[in-house]
Amino acid sequence: MYRAQRLGLKYLTASTVMFGAMVIFGLISSIYFVRPGFLLNTFNFSTAKIVHINGLIIWLLMGFIGSIYWFLPQELQCEVEGIGLAEILFWVFCAAVAVVVAIFIFVQYGTASEFSMWFINQGRKYVEAPRWAAIGIVVVAAVFAYNVIGTAIKARRTTGILTVLIADLIPLLALYLDAFPEMSNMSADLFWWWWLVHLWVEATWEVLIGCIMAWTLIHLVDASRRVVESWLYVEVALVLGTGILGLGHHYFWIGTPHYWLAIGGFFSALEPLPLLGMVVHAVYDAGERHLQAANRPAFYWTLAEAFGNFIGAGVWGFMMTLPQINLYSHGTQWTASHGHFAFWGAYGCGVIAVLYLVVERSRASTGLDGRAWRWSFALLNIGMVGMAGALLVAGMDQAFFERAIGGSTWSAFLSMQGRPWYNQSMWARLLFGLIFAAGYAVLVYDLLSIAKPVEARVREPLAAAGA
Ligand code: HEM
Ligand code: HEM
Ligand SMILES: [Fe+2]
Repeated sequence: MYRAQRLGLKYLTASTVMFGAMVIFGLISSIYFVRPGFLLNTFNFSTAKIVHINGLIIWLLMGFIGSIYWFLPQELQCEVEGIGLAEILFWVFCAAVAVVVAIFIFVQYGTASEFSMWFINQGRKYVEAPRWAAIGIVVVAAVFAYNVIGTAIKARRTTGILTVLIADLIPLLALYLDAFPEMSNMSADLFWWWWLVHLWVEATWEVLIGCIMAWTLIHLVDASRRVVESWLYVEVALVLGTGILGLGHHYFWIGTPHYWLAIGGFFSALEPLPLLGMVVHAVYDAGERHLQAANRPAFYWTLAEAFGNFIGAGVWGFMMTLPQINLYSHGTQWTASHGHFAFWGAYGCGVIAVLYLVVERSRASTGLDGRAWRWSFALLNIGMVGMAGALLVAGMDQAFFERAIGGSTWSAFLSMQGRPWYNQSMWARLLFGLIFAAGYAVLVYDLLSIAKPVEARVREPLAAAGA
């Protein structure tokens, strides 16, 4: 195994730990909706949510970085350039994440000062880490980009997938710099912040996961490189063609000029197209193989990624992307329903597919087709679909009664809090959240038992038998 692959394993392990942490904070966040006095003055909802969603970003970024360290040396048949530096930075990254989480939990907030921005919270949703840590993330990402590009230069060759990946890493990194500027005009601030959030998840991350899934399909079902790469080019062209101007669906109500209503509405309505392409692509490859793959868990998670991306991002996003509808649905639980479903479908499932691929190739000594993965697959997906469904009901209730009929007034907002559908949905979300968390526990159990060294597996039954 290459050193880079061992580093990839470490990143994927850290990523799975972050996944667990963000789930715990998601569960905590959801309790306030049914018990508003929960942890009053000790740990506020806003801080729980910050840990939940920043943890989400770190979980997925670590998953992407780990996957690429795993695939890259195999792709070019050589060790990754600058791997020593990357290994050191992994530990720096983990330590920084631990410190930031501790600050979020124990310090929580400060005064509106430069000090707070540097050391407590930078204050932009999803990228709230204090400034010192944000600079650390830039350093890690820059070294990562150097690793990938440097390896291609060292090997003096590239492949279609790798070229797309390299071209994608540059805007991905550049957009993160957008987490830094301080602007006193709220509209201008939101205008640029959306460049980061939207152009990450609906453009650069989509291309990134496209590359990762392309490699996964090649390794998993021996998909033809020519077919996979042709699809990847089509998807990239469509993602960039729709995603860049689709940015307009966040510019409807923040004080930007009127023409964004038309641009945002039109282009973002086209955004499901590339996602549909990905489904066709995955199903095509599955059909080629008659739905057979040695590594069934990885294969099922790959299909879940394609469908989840299309439904959670494409269909759920499409529902509220026209300004005529967004006027009522904006910022309700409907948005949270889409946010959960899309992140899960497009990225969560993809990272889990890679986990199973990697654990099989590096650690498994027996078959993977036990029962546990089916349980975790079912529990996680039922949990997520249940949460997204519950939030959709709550969001529609808000859109109709609080917004359309109540006229978005403060009193309409307050009377909303007493409506049965809304409250029942909040309970349902908590219940499905627990099912999701059970699925996470089974996932970890399954991965650990597959990864267990052979000697341990032989030793344990012997010990149990008193030998
Ligand atoms: C046990 C599972 C989970 C529970 C109970 C949970 C609960 C919550 C809660 C209560 C919020 C705050 C919503 C609000 O401000 O109204 C939230 C936000 C969010 N969660 Fe989760 N979550 C869970 C898992 C996940 C997963 C697996 C993902 C992604 C793959 C995710 C992505 C998000 C996102 C993107 C937001 C921000 C949404 C927004 O503000 O519009 N969550 N979650
Ligand atoms: C993987 C891809 C995607 C992810 C991860 C994603 C995630 C999210 C998240 C987390 C939010 C809430 C942002 C916030 O206010 O904090 C959001 C908002 C939104 N998304 Fe997506 N999304 C994706 C793709 C799409 C697509 C393809 C469409 C349209 C077809 C779309 C349409 C929207 C719209 C209209 C909003 C604004 C909702 C509002 O006004 O409250 N999204 N998305
Ligand atoms: Fe967007």
